[in-house]
Order: sequence, then structure tokens, then C-alpha cells
Amino acid sequence: MKLSNRIKLGLTFFIWRVINRRAFEEDFLRILPNTLKDAARLIFYRNFTSEEKRIAKSIETYRSSLITTDKILHSFSSPRSGTFKKGNNDHAIAGPYLANTSEAHAKTGASMKGGILLRRITTGLAARTVLELGTNTGFSGCYILSCPQVEQLVTIEGSKDLCEIADRNLRQFSDKYKLMNMLFDDAIDTLSHNDDKFDCVFIDGQHEREATWHYTKRVMPLLNNGGSIIFDDIYWSDDMNQCWKEICMSLDFSVTVDLQLKGVAILRLGEESKMFYDICEYVGRPRIFRKGW
Ligand SMILES: C[S@@+](CC[C@H](N)C(=O)[O-])C[C@H]1O[C@@H](n2cnc3c(N)ncnc32)[C@H](O)[C@@H]1O
Repeated sequence: MKLSNRIKLGLTFFIWRVINRRAFEEDFLRILPNTLKDAARLIFYRNFTSEEKRIAKSIETYRSSLITTDKILHSFSSPRSGTFKKGNNDHAIAGPYLANTSEAHAKTGASMKGGILLRRITTGLAARTVLELGTNTGFSGCYILSCPQVEQLVTIEGSKDLCEIADRNLRQFSDKYKLMNMLFDDAIDTLSHNDDKFDCVFIDGQHEREATWHYTKRVMPLLNNGGSIIFDDIYWSDDMNQCWKEICMSLDFSVTVDLQLKGVAILRLGEESKMFYDICEYVGRPRIFRKGW
């Protein structure tokens, strides 16, 4: 995006915030489940605590070192809308396996704001066991591992190149992780077979509507009662946004929260009434990033 457009967008969001501060506090934050209030505050006020700044600083140091190495790495890119196919065992076919620079991969990984948001969501939900679909170079994983209550992160990545880098990245933070160098469906088969359970799943790969639904349905049985799914890039493409809207309508979840950068869906336990909270009404709705994809 051009600098002038970025400034215009930043200014628009700033004005929105000034006008909507009271409505945000009284109409949105007051009724939002307590577990997600800190995450919502980050999006509205854009303030980081000194602990968050310290954590982000050490994570961002590794990103800088990745940007300066000009290695070519392979990863599974997100396929175009409507191209979803299944192969053997009803497994999804991954997107194209493409080469790109380490700099491009480092920039694909969770940004400081996205990472701290993930940290606040995971901490708010008190998730002790987390499953991530899409490790990439491990940035989101580092932010998850920095949550004090997290006891184990299982993270899945199909690219061997990226797993080697992610392993070095994650190891700096903690040894409480298991990195599975497998395709998502193969790894989910293994986890299901072992009867592994998680409090929270973060879906951040193969961004396409049907693929996202496929993995959502597959990880649901791995969730503990009342567990949650965090969806990344809900405004990435029209198709991903459509998927998010369907998730918000789905009776599988009792609570869905649009946090602008990510969507959170809490699994239904019983007969609770369905609630949907949308922060974009108070901070502005992002434009679809890849229109026509
Ligand atoms: C958007 S990146 C993940 C970014 C990371 N979560 C972060 O925020 O730092 C998506 C990753 O998922 C991996 N991926 C996509 N489809 C996959 C599949 N079907 N099986 C395994 N890995 C896959 C890609 O190789 C890519 O590295």
C-alpha cells in the first residue's frame, strides 16, 4: 500500500477511535466476555504493556536476523478461492509449494501487533495446551510460548525448510513445544490417534474458505469442552471473509468475536444462546487484502 494511502487509513482509524471511545467502552467492552477484554483493548487503544514490549523486542531481534539472510525457502502458499480439492483418505490437497526469500517469510510471520494480540487472546482464554496449523518461521509460536500459562504448543508445518528455522526460533523461548513437519491432515490424524486434546487451536494456513472449514471440522474433536479456535486473516480475501461470516452463523460455536486481525470462536457446550461481538463497528472494518483472489 502507498504511504499516502497508509496515512489516510491511519488517520481515518484514529478519528473513528476518538468518536467511538465511549461507545466502545459502554456498548462493546462492557458486555464482551471478560476473557477477551484485554485483546479488544489492544485493538482499540493500540497500547502495549512494558512486559509485552520486552517480549516483542526479543522476538523481533530474530526477525531482523532472518531478513538479512538471503536464503530461498519453500512453503505452501494459500490457494485461490474455490480451488479446494481432497485426495486420499479425504485429506485436503495443500496449496502450491513455492519458493520465496527468507525476508518474505519473516514478513509473513505474525507481526508484533498480531503476535501480542494472539498472546492476549490465548492468555485471556487461559489456554494451557495450544495447537497451531501453520508454523512458518515460528513467530506466532514464540508469542504463544511467551504466555505464562501455556504448558504445551503443538505446531504443524509442511515445509522442511521452515521447520529448521522455526525450531531455532522457538527454542530460544521455551522447550514446551512439539514441531510436526507434516501436512495438516496427516498431523491431525496422528494427534487424533494419540487422543491429544487442546484448549485452543490457531488456524493460520491454507487460507481458502473450504479448506478453512475442512480443518475447522477436523480440529473440533481435538478441543476440550468449551475450547476455542482462533482464525487468522479473516479479511485476507473475500472468500476467507465469507468463511468467517459462516463461522459466526454456525451453531457449532456459542460465541464468536471479530477482533479485526483475528476471529475467535468458542465451541458450544450446550444450549447457550449465540453471541456475536464485532469490534470493527468501533475501530473500522479493514478492506479485503486480496480482492478477487
Ligand atoms: C501464514 S503462514 C503461518 C504464519 C505463522 N503462523 C505466523 O504467524 O508466524 C502459513 C504456513 O502454513 C503452511 N501450510 C499451508 N498449508 C499447509 C498444509 N496443508 N500442511 C502443512 N503446512 C501448510 C505454509 O507452508 C506456511 O508456512
